[in-house]
Amino acid sequence: MKITVLGAAGGIGQPLALLLKLQLPPGSSLALYDIAPLTPGVAVDLSHIPTDVKVLGYGGEDASEALHGAQVVLIPAGVPRKPGMTRDDLFNVNAGIVKKLVETSARACPGACIAIITNPVNSTVPIAAEVLKKAGVYDERRLFGVTTLDVIRSATFVADLARLEPAKLDVRVIGGHSGTTILPLLSQLPVKFSEDEAKKLTLRIQDAGTEVVNAKAGGGSATLSMAQAGARFAISLLRGLSGGRAVECTFVADPKGRVPFFARPALLGPRGVEDLLDIGPMNAYEKQSLESLYGELEGNIKKGVEFAR
Ligand code: 2OP
Repeated sequence: MKITVLGAAGGIGQPLALLLKLQLPPGSSLALYDIAPLTPGVAVDLSHIPTDVKVLGYGGEDASEALHGAQVVLIPAGVPRKPGMTRDDLFNVNAGIVKKLVETSARACPGACIAIITNPVNSTVPIAAEVLKKAGVYDERRLFGVTTLDVIRSATFVADLARLEPAKLDVRVIGGHSGTTILPLLSQLPVKFSEDEAKKLTLRIQDAGTEVVNAKAGGGSATLSMAQAGARFAISLLRGLSGGRAVECTFVADPKGRVPFFARPALLGPRGVEDLLDIGPMNAYEKQSLESLYGELEGNIKKGVEFAR
């Protein structure tokens, strides 16, 4: 398998590339692309780590060479938030970056699975879908927004509060990837929280990105935890593509849903999304939160679609 990371020299891209160098199946190749001139150097640096994963670095304006023959494309390229900004404030810069990179992917590796990390994910995924449709290569089973960071944060915060092992917790997080569109389904967990605890946990999960942005005090947003989330998603996707099975919550096309894209558990297999799984039971608070997130999510999706058109 060939995996290409677009934006590989950035804050997320570098640790993501490191995790992939360590975790990709033996014999894989990892292509790193970024406009930053140090990218070939990042590849040389990683190539000294003794795993059977070949690393190549590419710079310049055109990502085509890095993308040729790729089965999976991961896109963390773009600018991060600063304190006081929402993910939507990144739209003006990042929308154009994603559009250009997906246009190049559509030409260079038309059948690849594309997983987008670049914010605002609620809008950049619809942009990518429009670009792929225009190029005549859209397959809704092969386009993903990475929301795994919400899943791993949920596991961490729940485990902290309930004194459990985080690795044993699998929290479903549905909706989107910003503010109140992030909805963790805490009522499905074997641990029972009071209403007040559940509300506080939900708010912390929804604001966790901002917690990092504020703590970094102008130095950017989550990079290391996002890299881990991106690597986990990529490894699950590869497991599916190579004939295994994996389930991850991810922001994908939801043809039967109330909005065209929705984060939900998806069964990953050889074609990408093999099946969209049931969201499962929700309590009254979650049902109400779900009802009230559709408006914002729909607005974010429309903004992406209109930009791409
Ligand atoms: C976050 O949730 C960067 O969107 C990312 O922290």
